[in-house]
Amino acid sequence: MDKSMLLRNISKLVQVREPGLKCVKGTEMRELPCIDNAWLLLEDGRIKDFGPMATCPETTGEILDVTGRMVFPCWVDSHTHLVFAGSRETEFADRIGGLTYEEIAAKGGGILNSARRLQETQEEVLLENAYARLLEVRDFGTGAIEIKSGYGLTVESELKMLRVIRQLDRMTDMTIKATFLGAHAFPVIYRENREAYLHQIIHEMLPRIAAEGLADYIDVFCEKKFFQVDEAIRIMEAGLQYGLKAKIHTNQFYSIGGIQAAIRCGAVSVDHLEIVTEADMAALLHSDTIPTLLPSAPFFLNDHYPPARRMMDMGLPVALATDYNPGTTPSGRMSFVLSLACIKLKMTPEEAINAATINGAYALELSDQLGSITRGKIANVFITKPIPSIAYLPYAFGSDLVEKVILRGNC
Ligand code: NIG
Ligand code: FE
Repeated sequence: MDKSMLLRNISKLVQVREPGLKCVKGTEMRELPCIDNAWLLLEDGRIKDFGPMATCPETTGEILDVTGRMVFPCWVDSHTHLVFAGSRETEFADRIGGLTYEEIAAKGGGILNSARRLQETQEEVLLENAYARLLEVRDFGTGAIEIKSGYGLTVESELKMLRVIRQLDRMTDMTIKATFLGAHAFPVIYRENREAYLHQIIHEMLPRIAAEGLADYIDVFCEKKFFQVDEAIRIMEAGLQYGLKAKIHTNQFYSIGGIQAAIRCGAVSVDHLEIVTEADMAALLHSDTIPTLLPSAPFFLNDHYPPARRMMDMGLPVALATDYNPGTTPSGRMSFVLSLACIKLKMTPEEAINAATINGAYALELSDQLGSITRGKIANVFITKPIPSIAYLPYAFGSDLVEKVILRGNC
């Protein structure tokens, strides 16, 4: 039987777009098309139709009166590390005491600390904990999410993480993309023999992951004290041979050429970008690679914020994501990312909402399916609590303003 739901008396239907829009760039990011006093019809898990209340149709299906509330397309969180074992508040305290993220990593903390714990944790336990986090972020309004491996760092543990991500995909109505991040850090035993670990990633992990269909993308932490540019290129090229495009971590602490390398390798996105030169940003202008900013990481590390304003003023698109992970962002709350984007990156609320919806979808190659209120797209929307304006959402940074989340037409 056909299943439909009609939302009536929506105070503002936000991010209404015609089909075919891939992402919004530069000054286009300031525009956020909305319909005041609107209706929205969802049918068979898709957006069927919408319009102003004066044209509201009759229906035999379910009706939801949402007077006073706004309706948004769900957030698309295009960069997370949501599968992990244990927390890292000891390092948090060490940083307050004066150590830097890189100093903690050099002592075997950081990513290697999470890897040790993940290797010892059973798959079922990882799944249970990750599932709880996923339900939490769903309730924050996230409808699609990318999740990376990268805390396994052995063949078996990387596969274990990716299997957990695939299982999560079957457990909810959220859309989940998986990214293989074996090149997150060099395990201690390979510190003096980097070539051996690169060989393991390229010739042992990748073929098995590809054979089992466990990943959609490949990632590398391209950074002075992690993977060098030439190493990152080898990994991205190897990924491409198995049909995995790159989404890379780069320019978090230094500008060493990761952006240019990623563009040359056809990367879908370059993520972090706290430290970028004019030349790095200019290189992105004539590419299809989207800069993805993760402002809760520099917030948590008390570090530099990426120059989002400059990027948009040059005409670039910008996506926003949480980077949810135990080391640099123990939070999957997209609304806080939007607040930081407005306060610290000087993005307008409209720009931040575009960055977290249609541009996030583009960063996962999903903008034909998600990221806007468009006829035919997947019915992933959230209903707010009564709010007076769009800007109220990033303004009231400590409040939970999402009242109900609808995924694939289901409440
Ligand atoms: O995106 N920078 C690299 N990876 C993660 C942090 C990983 C960790 O510290 O556990 C990030 O910030
Ligand atoms: Fe990350």
